[in-house]
Amino acid sequence: MANSCGKLILSIYIGFYCSAVFTPQICICSQFTSSSIDQFKKDPGAFPVATNGEIFPWRELRLPTVVIPLHYDLFVHPNLTSLDFVASEKIEVLVRDATQFIILHSTDLEIMNATLQSEEDLRYRKPGEKLTVLSYPAHEQIALLAPEKLMADLRYSVAIDFQAKLADGFEGFYKSTYRTLGGETRTIAVTDFEPTQARMAFPCFDEPLFKANFSIKIRRESRHIALSNTPKVKTIELEGGLLEDHFETTVKMSTYLVAYIVCDFSSVSGTASSGVKVSIYAAPDKWSQTHYALEASLKLLDFYENYFDIHYPLPKLDLVAIPDFESGAMENWGLITYRETSLLFDPKTSSTSDKLWVTEVIAHELAHQWFGNLVTMEWWNDIWLNEGFARYMELVSVNATYPELQFDDNFVNMCFEVIKRDSLNSSHPISNQAETPTQVKEMFDAVSYNKGACILNMLKDFLSEEKFKNGIIHYLRKFSYRNAKNDDLWSSLSNACLESDFTSDGFCYSSSKTTSNTLTFLRENVEIKEMMATWTLQKGIPLVVVNREGRSLRLRQERFLSGVFKEDPEWGTLQERYLWHIPVTYSMSSSNVIHRYILKSKTDTLDLPVETSWVKFNVDSNGYYIVHYEGHGWDQLITLLNQNHTLLRPKDRIGLIHDAFQLVSAGRLTLDKALDLTRYLQHETSIPALLKGLEYLELFYHIMERRNVSDVTENLKLYLLQYFKPMIDMQSWSDEGSAWDRVLRSALLKLACYLNYAPCIRKATELFSQWMESSGKLNIPTDVLKIVYSVGAQKPAGWNYLLEQYELSLSGAEKNKILYALSTSKHQEKLMKLIELGMEGKVIKTQDLAALLYAIARNPKGQQLAWNFVKENWTHLLKKFDLGSFPIRMIISGTTSHFSSKDELQEVKLFFESLKAQGSHLEIFQIVLETISKNIKWLEKNLPTLRNWLLISI
Ligand code: BES
Ligand code: ZN
Repeated sequence: MANSCGKLILSIYIGFYCSAVFTPQICICSQFTSSSIDQFKKDPGAFPVATNGEIFPWRELRLPTVVIPLHYDLFVHPNLTSLDFVASEKIEVLVRDATQFIILHSTDLEIMNATLQSEEDLRYRKPGEKLTVLSYPAHEQIALLAPEKLMADLRYSVAIDFQAKLADGFEGFYKSTYRTLGGETRTIAVTDFEPTQARMAFPCFDEPLFKANFSIKIRRESRHIALSNTPKVKTIELEGGLLEDHFETTVKMSTYLVAYIVCDFSSVSGTASSGVKVSIYAAPDKWSQTHYALEASLKLLDFYENYFDIHYPLPKLDLVAIPDFESGAMENWGLITYRETSLLFDPKTSSTSDKLWVTEVIAHELAHQWFGNLVTMEWWNDIWLNEGFARYMELVSVNATYPELQFDDNFVNMCFEVIKRDSLNSSHPISNQAETPTQVKEMFDAVSYNKGACILNMLKDFLSEEKFKNGIIHYLRKFSYRNAKNDDLWSSLSNACLESDFTSDGFCYSSSKTTSNTLTFLRENVEIKEMMATWTLQKGIPLVVVNREGRSLRLRQERFLSGVFKEDPEWGTLQERYLWHIPVTYSMSSSNVIHRYILKSKTDTLDLPVETSWVKFNVDSNGYYIVHYEGHGWDQLITLLNQNHTLLRPKDRIGLIHDAFQLVSAGRLTLDKALDLTRYLQHETSIPALLKGLEYLELFYHIMERRNVSDVTENLKLYLLQYFKPMIDMQSWSDEGSAWDRVLRSALLKLACYLNYAPCIRKATELFSQWMESSGKLNIPTDVLKIVYSVGAQKPAGWNYLLEQYELSLSGAEKNKILYALSTSKHQEKLMKLIELGMEGKVIKTQDLAALLYAIARNPKGQQLAWNFVKENWTHLLKKFDLGSFPIRMIISGTTSHFSSKDELQEVKLFFESLKAQGSHLEIFQIVLETISKNIKWLEKNLPTLRNWLLISI
């Protein structure tokens, strides 16, 4: 996923209070409630004006908490021909404080009628007391005005009839289309509500804290089926041949998790060990691609039910591949929706990486059935409690169910991905204020997802796996069907260290094996809270600077900033008030023991018990910090890697490569030293470590190529081909080997062909010709498919043929590979044609437009084209995607963040300013500007070094 604001965020938690506890279980927190109502009485002029000119009685973005929903009866009748729906609902509410109005969310719904009834309030006993409906679109709210005040502690039933068009985009209740093998285009209707789009489908209390039960009925034609969160109880036949499906009442849940689909899909089903029926649904012609997902989801559901020791509470779980989908997938309770490429696996065209992705997404969305669905964050500022946990659980569950995929080696890369973002001043704390729908959408970023997962992994490593697991189970049990905030998690994790575990010294030991690994430092529950506050309420990542003199290790922590050097005037200010409680780990040449220690102060000194030739910090890269070794530290580690790299663990080697190049960006290490560190890679036995080194070298090649620095580009090419030749030549054009063998093959052959390595081009051309001659019937090994297509796309005939096949292919995995290949063309008119097709949204679906623009911007011949297009077509793009949405953020960063000149920076700045003047403001703007400035600085400092290093290396 793509990605704000400064200072220690403790100050942004303003004025929240728990207004009342209406059941022993639930506490609704609000910053406004009664004060706003009083305000209304005092000064109605301070309130907004509704669409009909009357005063709208509520002025806050968040709903009042005086009226809360208990149950929704929702009836929906979509018409897939006229592309609209009529609907009605009855919401049972509890009035907690007397009020004359009920505020609900509603966006673009035509409300035909609203009435009120109550069994408990005699004045409203007779059915159908009409309510006045006011609408305030700026806040996506409606107000239902009652003729007489509703009384505290009584239940009322609000009935609303409404209708709307099926939405055009990817939000709310929207339409999606697909093409059958026979060439027919069919339409389905599907929902996607997170975070704030349930209000587009039915008027509701659309905030995560308002959990309720839902009883859903869907009317459909007999050629369709209807799916919703729960199993169908019955189907009623209506006059005229229509059918009406009634679904079981759901468990208590937030509105953003409600889902329903009307489609004509086929499915495969199986039963999990607990008896839950799992089904995979896809368009009928894609049925054959559903089998891997069924196998994986059954395995993963079994795993989670065992691991959490909490049953998945619904009798069924459906996973549905939706032809038009904005994100990767959505965890609706019992009815998970996926982009086709995140669920379907086609053995003929899906590669190992595709399989890994499908497995990962299924694991992620299934984890949400507990983290997110069962226990939900109170507000979107803590979306990391959903997304960070789901990402973290991907690691745990995929490692356990598919060890052969060696998923944990991917996890470190996920942390590295967010470190790039978090080492800019424009980053934001994991828990961050978010009020408007756009701000809420922006919270779904790498910080919430990846940093969230990485700090959880760090905490697990610190507490021990067993304690961490017990703690999170405790959290899930305690807050089931309720909402939680950060502190609730920390308390649950602290309580996991049972009182009986504490020893007289105040330390907490794991009850079973007491090794230094499981030794934890829980003097008081407060410690975890304090420690984790430094990671969640404070943005950025720490740098641990190690200085060794004999047996004495001097440690210092700083805030790590890439692109800001210590000699820069702003460095000092940017450091102020930053301090982390860092659970530091280290290993030494003298033993295999992992040493642990918490660095809570700016500086500290550790005395080593014995002499050692090297010390390596951040064992297995489990910690969220970067390490710099001052003095001879890096030289000693480089020597060690060259002498016998296997003395360090593979993930330690990956960490060293990563940290060295990060330190170059921060001006702490010279580029030639970091490059020297990669010289051992020829002997590297761990594929993920080798790939990490290769990734940086390739990155430098792309920077040089894009900037047109021809001498360095040529020399880097020579170096890469020379250095990696033995490994490239060893690769077979097949799908053999372990998951990582296969990932390495794809990476090396892709590089070789990109660099025009003759044997690679020859083989790929040969395979491409055979494929064309076979009319696309020949099976090319999936791991090299993208490479073969990309080489084929360089000739006009090949490019045209690929575009034809793109239209025909029923495999999303294949289509992605073809689209990537098409985007590597050197012909600008071809690239422009792709963009036009993407904007048209027929041959190339709108859902794939952002990835297409991203790919074209990565092509040196397309970068200017893509950027100009975005500038000139911004308003068109905003008609397709919502401002804070992932595609818009991806389009912006994808087409700009590789720029590295002052002119480009100025151009981007001007564009962003013009957008701001039009009222569009996104935090991604600042991230991009900072990234470009960083790139400029990097080049100024490191280009001469890179040039010289290459001259002595080739
Ligand atoms: N809850 C999200 C879907 C979502 C994303 C809703 C953005 C609202 C805004 C879902 O669980 C998710 O995280 N999907 C990921 C896939 C995952 C494997 C990281 C995605 O869509 O990329
Ligand atoms: Zn998620």
